[in-house]
Order: sequence, then C-alpha cells, then structure tokens
Amino acid sequence: MDDLVALCKRRGFIYPASEIYGGLNGFWDYGPLGTELKNNIRDAWWHDMVRCPPIGPDGEPISIVGLDSSIIQNPRVWEASGHVDGFNDPMVDCRETKSRYRADHLMVLGGEDTGERRLYAYLAGDDEGRDRAVKLLGKYEKVSAEEADWTDRPLVDLPAAALERVVGPDTKEPGSLTEPRQFNLMFKTFVGALQSEDSAAYLRPETAQGIFLNFNNVVDTMRVKVPFGIAQVGKAFRNEVTPRNYIFRSREFEQMEIEWFCHESEAATWFDFWCETRRKWWESMGLTSDSVQMRRHDADELAHYAKEGCGTFDVEYRFPFTSPDFGELEGVAHRGNYDLSRHMEFSKKKLEYFDQPRNERYLPHVIEPSAGLSRGTLAILCEAFTPDEARASKVYMKFQPRVAPIKAAVFPLVNKDGMPEIAGKLYETLRQRWPIQYDAKQSIGKRYARMDEAGCPWCFTVDSDTVNDQAVTVRDRDSLSQDRLAIDQVENWLADRLK
Ligand code: GAP
Repeated sequence: MDDLVALCKRRGFIYPASEIYGGLNGFWDYGPLGTELKNNIRDAWWHDMVRCPPIGPDGEPISIVGLDSSIIQNPRVWEASGHVDGFNDPMVDCRETKSRYRADHLMVLGGEDTGERRLYAYLAGDDEGRDRAVKLLGKYEKVSAEEADWTDRPLVDLPAAALERVVGPDTKEPGSLTEPRQFNLMFKTFVGALQSEDSAAYLRPETAQGIFLNFNNVVDTMRVKVPFGIAQVGKAFRNEVTPRNYIFRSREFEQMEIEWFCHESEAATWFDFWCETRRKWWESMGLTSDSVQMRRHDADELAHYAKEGCGTFDVEYRFPFTSPDFGELEGVAHRGNYDLSRHMEFSKKKLEYFDQPRNERYLPHVIEPSAGLSRGTLAILCEAFTPDEARASKVYMKFQPRVAPIKAAVFPLVNKDGMPEIAGKLYETLRQRWPIQYDAKQSIGKRYARMDEAGCPWCFTVDSDTVNDQAVTVRDRDSLSQDRLAIDQVENWLADRLK
C-alpha cells in the first residue's frame, strides 16, 4: 500500500485534502489522473446500468432511469429512514490520549482471563500496533510470545469489568478506555441564517434516500412500470470514528446506487439476479475473479433496513490491507418495503404503486445494489499496480483501456527534423476524441516510464523514418511490443481498441 499511495501522490491520482494545512483526517482530493479514472469508472457504471442496462432473468432488457437528488434534504427524511436513531457505530474514547476508536475495530491481546491479567489493545489489521502489544505484554508478564498463552480477541467480546485492565493502543497503563457508546455518523449542519436546532439538517449518509423520496415523481413522469430501477451517483458523508486504509473508509466519498423496485413475489429472483450481475460487472472492470468474492452478512451485521430472512450479500475485494481476507466493495441488500412504508408513514403521502396487469395496489419491494465509487477506484488502483523490475519505472499501472485516465500518448523522438510538427498534428487529431498526452521532454525511456506509471495503454512515437514511411511506432504498455502503424490508421486503430 505504501508504494501505491506514493505513486498515487507522485502521479497526480490522489492527494490528502487540505494538505498545505496539515490535511484533514478522512478527506481526500482526486488529482488530474484520479479524477479521470474515477469519472471513467462512474461513466462505465452509468452506461452499463442506466443507458444500456443488463438483460433480466426472463431474457428481456430491464429498465433503469437516472436521478440526481439534493445532498441536503428535509431532516425528517433521516428520521423516517432510521438514520437518526439507528445509524450509529460503537465508539471508545481514550481518556489519556483523547484518541477515539471504533470499538468493533479494536482487538486485545492477552492470556486466559483470571480477572487480574492485563490486556493490550490494538487496531485490527495494524501489524505495528500488534507488535507493540506483544512487546509491552511480554515485558509486563516477563514471558516471551512463544512461551505465552496469549490470544487475540475482539474488544467488544470482553465482559465490561475487564475494560479496566485493558491498555489502550497508544498508552502504557490500563484503564484509560471508556465503555463503548453509540455515536451517530451523520454530519449535522444548519440551513439558513438561524443556527438553532430548528434549522439543523444533515449531509446525506447515502444517496439511496433521495431515490425513495422521488419514487412518485419518477412513476408519474417517466411511464416506468414495476419492475424498474432508479440509479444515482453522488457524494455521501459519514463522520466515521476511525477513517483508515487510505480512501477505503473516508468521511466524504461517492456511491453508485440502484434501487430496484419489484413485486414482493419476485424479490428473491431479483436479489439473485443483482448479486450475480454486480459481481460480474466488477470482474468486467478488470478485478480478477480470485480477488472478488460474494459474502452473506451475518445476522449481527445487517443494517436496520435489511429484510429479515433475506439479508444482504457483499461483493468483496481482496485489498492489500485486508489480504488474505476481503473487504466490502458493494452491498446488495433486500430492503423489503421498509423505506417506502416509512416515508409514507412520516410524510403522510401515498407512495403505493398501482400495478395494472396484476390489478393490485402495493408498496414495491426493493433490491439495492449499493456500490462505492471511491472504494471501486481504490480496488481498480490496487489491481492495476504491477511491479516490474525490468522497466525503468519499476512498476506500471495495468488499467483496462476503458478506465485508463490517459488513453494514448504521442511523442516526437527528438525535437527536430520535422518530428514535432508531425507528432503535434497527430496529437491535435486524437485529442478531439480521447484524453491524449503530448510529451516531448527528456529521453524516450523516461517518457515511457511516465506513461507506464500513469497506466497509459499505448504510446505513438514519431521518429526519423516517419517522414519517409508515413508510419509511427506503437508501444504496448503490457507486452512492451513495438510495431509500425501507418499514421493515417492511428485514429481507427485506437477507436477499435477503445470501443
Ligand atoms: N444505501 C446503502 C448503503 O449506503 P453501505 O453498505 O453503508 O450501504 C454502500 O454503503 C457502499 O458505500 C459500501 O459498499 C462502500 O463501498 C461505500 N462506503 C460506505 N461507507 C464508506 C466510507 N466511509 N468510505 C468509503 N466508501 C464507503
């Protein structure tokens, strides 16, 4: 991860937000290449899910329409959705260091519980933190790790009385951690000039609710018929207790969500359909099948809206920081009619749908494939990162051409003998259609290295032969092959590969 994070900074994919002021934990900015990459993933999703959605289980094309709703909605929305009461994480404070941790992210290391022995806490997945715990516990118990009877346990599994014997991740003495208490993850703000509780509002923690709020509007204006979907891409905000793992868990991020409305009797079929469709989509974006898996949520992980007995499946990716385990990329949830019925109850507006063929009025059930655009970008960055000692860059980003931020580069081999003029003309033509880079600085090897790190699939070089044979050299990022191609064929050649 350290190497990937460094490359992302160096090559303009991702920067820490407010960096010149020391940054702000949990917030990130996307640089020029990161913005292109993220937009390409977003556009691929929009194309494959909204403009040209998949074929349904009955062999017919399905119907999905798009939406772009407000980030700030009437605060009653979040009471109805259950987020005011139920969108909480358990939080533990350290009285000594003033640090704050998510209780369910803390592990403790210690021996069999006699009611007296110390336990040392560390953050799950933090190898250095665990090493520290091993060292301190060994020193305290005067025993080596090999001889000790220690085990690793989640902090939340400890009885309350054991907490006073736990040494916090950043302290040396026990008893500084508070009991876990619930912490609401929504960011609060004020609407208008009066800053009082009456004007309080929330930044949306998911894009989904904007879709439920517009269910009637879409049905009335778009002539859609159940089953159909509404899709939205946009920012969501969560005041995460411990943002971590780069952009994996941040406080401001983007989601790509579909709410699929269907009749209750068909919900199970659609649930299976969406689990399969979404897993395949991530694989089509270049995530290899052995690094992607589907996992059913355990009963104690289910969100407040998940329908009992049906649950949620996650599409998971093996991120470097979760490996050999997997981390959530997308959740596919069966929300039942929870949201529409809650909004009907709270707004007192009828949200039922009249199904003409069935001659039945009902609240549709909802299957929700909810993907993280920011997490998807991270997964694609991790997957693309390919070390290769034989190259000048030592690493290249093996993006699929569809998502690559730069589709091709044009170089004059040297800046004389008419080469810059020919290369400039080719660049002018190609950039009308795709993001193309022109680079005439430094040696050709350094230019290839820059493009390898940016994940640019092809480079076209104009050399001294071009004047005579009207051809350029195409260098392929992955195979490193170098072939000659007629200059007037370049546009079609590229169009073919970027179809
Ligand atoms: N509407 C349902 C919903 O929001 P979720 O599982 O809480 O479900 C969906 O979020 C997706 O949003 C996750 O699978 C993940 O990809 C992304 N996501 C959630 N919290 C995130 C965070 N703090 N940082 C980055 N991405 C996040």
